[in-house]
Amino acid sequence: MIRVDVPLGARAYSVWVGAGAFGRLGALVGERGGASGFSAAALVADAGLPAALADRAQDQLRGAGLAVVRLELRGERAKRLATVERLCTAFREAGLDREAVVVALGGGVVGDVAGFAAAVYLRGIACLHCPTTLQAMVDSAIGGKTGVNLAAAKNQIGAVHQPVAVLCDPELVRSLPRRDRRAAFGEIVKYGMVGDPAVLARLGELGGDAGAADPASLEPLIARCCACKAELVAGDEHDQGRRAILNYGHTIGHALESTLGYGRLRHGEAVAVGMRVAGRLSVAVRGCPAADIAEQDRLLADFGLGRLPRGVAADPAAILAATRHDKKVVGGEPRWVLLDRIGAARGGYRVPAELAASALAGVLAP
Ligand SMILES: NC(=O)c1ccc[n+]([C@@H]2O[C@H](COP(=O)([O-])OP(=O)(O)OC[C@H]3O[C@@H](n4cnc5c(N)ncnc54)[C@H](O)[C@@H]3O)[C@@H](O)[C@H]2O)c1
Ligand SMILES: [Zn+2]
Repeated sequence: MIRVDVPLGARAYSVWVGAGAFGRLGALVGERGGASGFSAAALVADAGLPAALADRAQDQLRGAGLAVVRLELRGERAKRLATVERLCTAFREAGLDREAVVVALGGGVVGDVAGFAAAVYLRGIACLHCPTTLQAMVDSAIGGKTGVNLAAAKNQIGAVHQPVAVLCDPELVRSLPRRDRRAAFGEIVKYGMVGDPAVLARLGELGGDAGAADPASLEPLIARCCACKAELVAGDEHDQGRRAILNYGHTIGHALESTLGYGRLRHGEAVAVGMRVAGRLSVAVRGCPAADIAEQDRLLADFGLGRLPRGVAADPAAILAATRHDKKVVGGEPRWVLLDRIGAARGGYRVPAELAASALAGVLAP
């Protein structure tokens, strides 16, 4: 088991990475015994999980002496305020008080929605993340960003609410559909490009079927991504500076998700297309070596990423218009994360509209 600390003073917590991490849920919750212990638990699980998984989580929580209310949700379209109201109403009906804990068992959708419900219920109760997708293990479960979408734009309502712990058990990825497993490598390649080039070398060794036969083999890679994210979060919890580099590829990625309709593309698929656009812009605007971006595009292609799936057509003008709804917009203009080279990223760049249009057209061309 690898422990990655997120050093945030009073809000510090650990991310546990390794086979068997999920089995520690009960012990971890039980450790908060005595007067400061949790009073009850809400288990918010993805409705698409193997049923045995949510049962095991519930058994562990009960074994730790907690009453458990169990709730379900699924899919990007459930990532909206109405779902948060449904969860909070159920918390109320179950009598959850301020000492209760929300356990999010699922991918980024469950983590973001359940985390946000925990952030706002009674003005904030504890939340513990048990990510079940590779994407959530490397990215969304860490860092405390929670929230929901508006119809027109992603993640526009939310709160920063750090979890009390994160349990990343690669074994849980075993039942994940191939498409979801592969989409996560969009974010993993991103870590390599913006922060930790060692991730790229490891990906090159593992190849496009990484983790398919043996999810435990992903453990070092997951830990490396967690450490990269933990460092950025610790230095910039509220995303006002360096943490923004994690949004590499997301200006176009988020715009694609909202214009195509939530759920059409996996988040990592949309981000991968966005990274190819941001890569071209990095060459044009920052003089990033073309070879660095070629390496990025080659790795993405290994995982079947970087292009729209067959049968999905996108309207470039609508995508560019949607970039102006991005959270990183200043004065109506999107601000881009660009690279000077692999490992040297910065946010806040303005890019002439024609240049963005031509980079997007180049990437969307068949
Ligand atoms: N908060 C953050 O910092 C942050 C960072 C990155 C992404 N996100 C958000 O995360 C979301 C995407 O999350 P995701 O990629 O994990 O997708 P997801 O949560 O939609 O899950 C993908 C699919 O996998 C299924 N599933 C989940 N775990 C499974 C398992 N172990 N076995 C079988 N099926 C399983 C789900 O039912 C779903 O159909 C997006 O909304 C994105 O905006 C948030
Ligand atoms: Zn992302």
